[in-house]
Amino acid sequence: NIIDFVNEFCNMYFWGDVAKDFFWKTRHSGRFLDYNFDVTKGRIFIKCMEGATTNICYNLLDRNVHDRKLGDKVAFFWSGNDPGDELTVTYRELLQRVCQFSNVLKSQGVKKGDRVSIYMPMVVELVVAMLACVRIGAVHSIVFAGFSAESLCERIMDSQCSLVITADGFYRGDKLINLKLLADEALQKCREKGFPVEKCIMLRHLSKAAEDDLSSQCPPAKRSCPDLQVPWNPDVDLCWHALLRGASDVCEPEWVESEDPLFILYTSGSTGKPKGVLHSVSGYMLYTATTFKLVFDHQPDDVYWCTADIGWITGHSYITYGPLANGATSVLFEGLPTFPDVSRMWQIVDKYRVSKFYTAPTAIRLLMKYGSEPVQRYKRNSLKVLGTVGEPINPEAWQWYYTVVGEKRCPIVDTFWQTETGGHMLTPLPAATPMKPGSATFPFFGVVPAILNESGEELEGPSEGYLVFKQPWPGVMRSVYGNHSRFESTYFKKFPGYYVTADGCRRDKDGYYWITGRIDDMLNVSGHLLSTAEIESALVEHAAVVEAAVVGRPHPVKGESLYCFVTLTEGATLSGPLEAELRKQVREKIGAIATPDYIQNAPGLPKTRSGKIMRRVLRKIACDERDLGDISTLADSSVVEQLFRDRCLTTP
Ligand SMILES: *[C@@H]1O[C@H](CO)[C@@H](O)[C@H](O)[C@H]1NC(C)=O
Ligand SMILES: *[C@@H]1O[C@H](CO)[C@@H](O)[C@H](O)[C@H]1NC(C)=O
Ligand SMILES: *[C@@H]1O[C@H](CO)[C@@H](O)[C@H](O)[C@H]1NC(C)=O
Repeated sequence: NIIDFVNEFCNMYFWGDVAKDFFWKTRHSGRFLDYNFDVTKGRIFIKCMEGATTNICYNLLDRNVHDRKLGDKVAFFWSGNDPGDELTVTYRELLQRVCQFSNVLKSQGVKKGDRVSIYMPMVVELVVAMLACVRIGAVHSIVFAGFSAESLCERIMDSQCSLVITADGFYRGDKLINLKLLADEALQKCREKGFPVEKCIMLRHLSKAAEDDLSSQCPPAKRSCPDLQVPWNPDVDLCWHALLRGASDVCEPEWVESEDPLFILYTSGSTGKPKGVLHSVSGYMLYTATTFKLVFDHQPDDVYWCTADIGWITGHSYITYGPLANGATSVLFEGLPTFPDVSRMWQIVDKYRVSKFYTAPTAIRLLMKYGSEPVQRYKRNSLKVLGTVGEPINPEAWQWYYTVVGEKRCPIVDTFWQTETGGHMLTPLPAATPMKPGSATFPFFGVVPAILNESGEELEGPSEGYLVFKQPWPGVMRSVYGNHSRFESTYFKKFPGYYVTADGCRRDKDGYYWITGRIDDMLNVSGHLLSTAEIESALVEHAAVVEAAVVGRPHPVKGESLYCFVTLTEGATLSGPLEAELRKQVREKIGAIATPDYIQNAPGLPKTRSGKIMRRVLRKIACDERDLGDISTLADSSVVEQLFRDRCLTTP
């Protein structure tokens, strides 16, 4: 088939060229990228560079230290929760520490293919732990340190982890998190469910260890923490620093196959238990390295800062793998944008002369609330490119980011991608793609999107519908861990022949793509499909609104009515005239069909710890259903009680 032939040729030509920059123990044989995306033709599979053997840790560290002579280059400037807690790690030091810890893992019996669960704060040792797993061919499963014991247990059991790595505790702003206590609770739950984990390695991050456990590599944080609780179970627990004593800093990497598993990362399915998204070695390496290099226009003297947590895919791909593959210098930040004050981000930008900055729209909207003064307290003249990730950025926040933070000097790269895609899918290239605020613009090289209508037909030209991808790219996930049929049914069943993103999308007359939100966030009002993201964007354009979330509430005539939660600027109140203005605003932007039925003042919105709005919970509030289901990922439950108290009761 001719299209197949042309694709393979292009993959060889483009990705094959990228692959030449990396180290391969043995070369690949057969096709560069082989796949089946059509469930009606058999099992779904994607194979990139099958037959090649390599090691990602070797490519990230040894290759940079030895072949590219970057040993003395800074890999990470670590900036702790408290300003003044900081640390610098070079590529050579990182390699030594990873090798030492690899030897520790081996001495604890961890072998190629074993799963290791990592539950740690944003410290350098988190990167050390993940790369040590990779070096010996083990598969890491990082669980965000904001998750509950129940969630950790569920993830440990699903991936059958033989060892857990954690830390004593950490601070988020002023709040102490007793992480080891949570880890122990999780291990206890696992034990009760018949899955005993035999080993747990604990890093001392806040506590002082016995003299002989202390390593100069990791000074405990300077803050004293009287409330820290560090339970210790001698049958299971091992001390990170004690294990390192005497461990050699030489460790031959385990050479693994291209399609061997690299890591598992759980995403919460909108229903059912979390999915273990499985990525494999070679394709993910090529894809994250290349997207990082081009989307951030990486230059050797850059200082790059991605504010995500490594517990999410953004941190995997664009704090660890992509930047290190390019020999980049990054900031690794443990803290919060609002601690000790709302200038913290810009203070760090100036301190390290950050040139490429990557954050989430939710952080931008949060800081926007405080106006431009806290930003302008710092110079920010090192900044060159600004990025966003996590959700479509509303034009209002885009303008603020562009004008106030970047002073109209820095292009914004609005990146659309998912845990499942491994790396950027739709994104501008800085200074090369003319921007439109709120649009992720065009596909990255080798990415072929399409927009389908409800009956699965491809739409041409300006249109709106389901966003799908027609062929694989090297970084696409390979399976749902332990349940390949769930992988097939989640991503390939609805429209055979396509990878289905579950996101809605609009293409304008210039061919720009606009993500309109999760398809399950579409509302059906009198038979019209409305995107909640578009309505929210219209609300947020009003000067009094900082953030908005719209959900459907069943309506006897219209099918669904629009229930809008709005967070107002400091000092504003939701009066009758303001409500009328908001209704008018949406009517004018989108149309009368989208006029909000209910508007509720929401001083806070229920969010996950990664900042995603939990619409499921809002839907329950709108419908006054008190049974909220599993809300273990909810960051602050007091928000929900308040919203229930203030519900709109009247029928419009
Ligand atoms: C989209 O779907 C409808 C039926 O739902 C169909 O009639 C129409 O032809 C489809 N295709 C396009 C390209 O609009
Ligand atoms: C795989 O996932 C499906 C849901 O898509 C579920 O019904 C099934 O029980 C799962 N199978 C296993 C072995 O976990
Ligand atoms: C929208 O709702 C109407 C009934 O109000 C229904 O007939 C129609 O099929 C729905 N459309 C979609 C795409 O769900």
